[in-house]
Amino acid sequence: MSAPQFAVTQNPAPTSPERRAEILADPGFGRYMTDHMATIRWTAGRGWHDFEVKPYGPLVLDPSSMVLHYGQEIFEGLKAYRQPDGSVASFRPDRNAARFQGSARRLAMPELPEELFLASLSALLSVDSEWVPAAGGEDSLYLRPFMIATEVGLGVRPSSEYLYAVLASPAGPYFAGGVKPMDVWLETTYTRSALGGTGEAKCGGNYAASLLPQSIGAEHGCAQVAYLDAEERIWIDEMGSNNLFFVFTAGDAVELVTPDLRGAVLAGITRDSLLAIAEDMGIKVVERRIQGQEWLGGAASGVLTEAFGCGTAAVITPIGTVKHDGGSVTMGDGQPGPVTMALRERLTAVQRGSAPDLHGWMYPL
Ligand code: PLP
Ligand code: COI
Repeated sequence: MSAPQFAVTQNPAPTSPERRAEILADPGFGRYMTDHMATIRWTAGRGWHDFEVKPYGPLVLDPSSMVLHYGQEIFEGLKAYRQPDGSVASFRPDRNAARFQGSARRLAMPELPEELFLASLSALLSVDSEWVPAAGGEDSLYLRPFMIATEVGLGVRPSSEYLYAVLASPAGPYFAGGVKPMDVWLETTYTRSALGGTGEAKCGGNYAASLLPQSIGAEHGCAQVAYLDAEERIWIDEMGSNNLFFVFTAGDAVELVTPDLRGAVLAGITRDSLLAIAEDMGIKVVERRIQGQEWLGGAASGVLTEAFGCGTAAVITPIGTVKHDGGSVTMGDGQPGPVTMALRERLTAVQRGSAPDLHGWMYPL
C-alpha cells in the first residue's frame, strides 16, 4: 500500500506558544497532549480508510462499542527526539510497527501496514513538531498509537470496525525520581502473563491486570513490580512497564543478563537495542532464564552488582532495592551502577543524535 494523504484539519484554538513553553519546561509524563491527533478507520470489506489529522479531542463512542465490553485494544509507545540540527527523528519506529502488527494478530484485529503506521506518525508531526522538546536534554515527545474495536454489539467475536489513532505528549522522566534508583517489588502472588496468553502483546488488558499488584508494590514504596513466570513461579519475566537487566561482576569480568523472551514477555525495543549496544561496547551479554532467588542471593552476596529496568518511557532506570514478602536486598551501594549508566549514556546519545547511529535506528519524522 502506498503512503496515503492525510486530510488535515487544523486545531482552531491551538495552545499558545507561551503556554506550550510553560508545559515543555516541566512536561512530566503523559500529563499534556499536543493540539492534534492522527486517525485511520478500518472496516471489514473496505480496509483502511479516512486518513485524518484533526484537533485533539473526545471520541464519540456508542456505549455498545465492543472495546468497552471485551477489551479489544492494543497500543504502542515510542518517542520523537529533537536532533542537534533542529530536525525530529524517532527511534526504531519500524519495530513498533511490527510489534503493533503482532499485538493485532493476537487480539484478532486487522494488521496496520508498516507504511501506514510510519505515515501516521509523520502526519501528526507535520502539524505538532513544535511540541518536540529542545535538543540535548532528557525530554522528548512521546507518541502513543493505539487501536480500538468500534463495532456496536454485545456478541463475543472480533469486531468488524476499528479506530486507529496516534496521540502525542511531551515527556520528561516516567518515574518521579528520574535516574535516581527506584525500588522494585518482587511479586509472588499475582503473575503478569502465562505462556499462550497475551503477555507478548501490548494490549490494555495486560496493564489493567497489573494495577492491583502495582498498588501492592506502591504500598511497599516501590515504583515497579517484577513478575515471576506463571507456570513455576520462580523465573523472572519482566516488570509492569519495562524489561529487566542484571549486571554480574566477578573481579574485572562483567556480564549483562536479561531474561530470555520465552513467549510471555514483551519484546522490548529498548531491550533489543541494549543487547546490541552492549556488544558494541564490548560488554558480554547473555539472554537466559534467571530465578528470583538468584537475583536476591546474587545481590546479597555481591556478585549481582546492578539491576535496571528499561523501556521507551522508563529509558534505563536503575534499581536500588528489591523488596519481597520476606525482606529486601539492595544492589551494591544502592546508587546507579557504572554499567547501567554507561549503557544509558550511549543509548540516549544515539537517540539525541549526539553519538553515531551505527545500526541505522534513527528515522526522520
Ligand atoms: N515490558 C512492558 C510490559 C512494557 O510496557 C514496556 C514498555 O513499552 C516494555 C517492556 C519495554 O518495551 P520498549 O522498550 O519497546 O518500550
Ligand atoms: C512505554 O514505555 O512506552 C510503555 O508503554 C510503558 C507504559 C507507559 C505503559
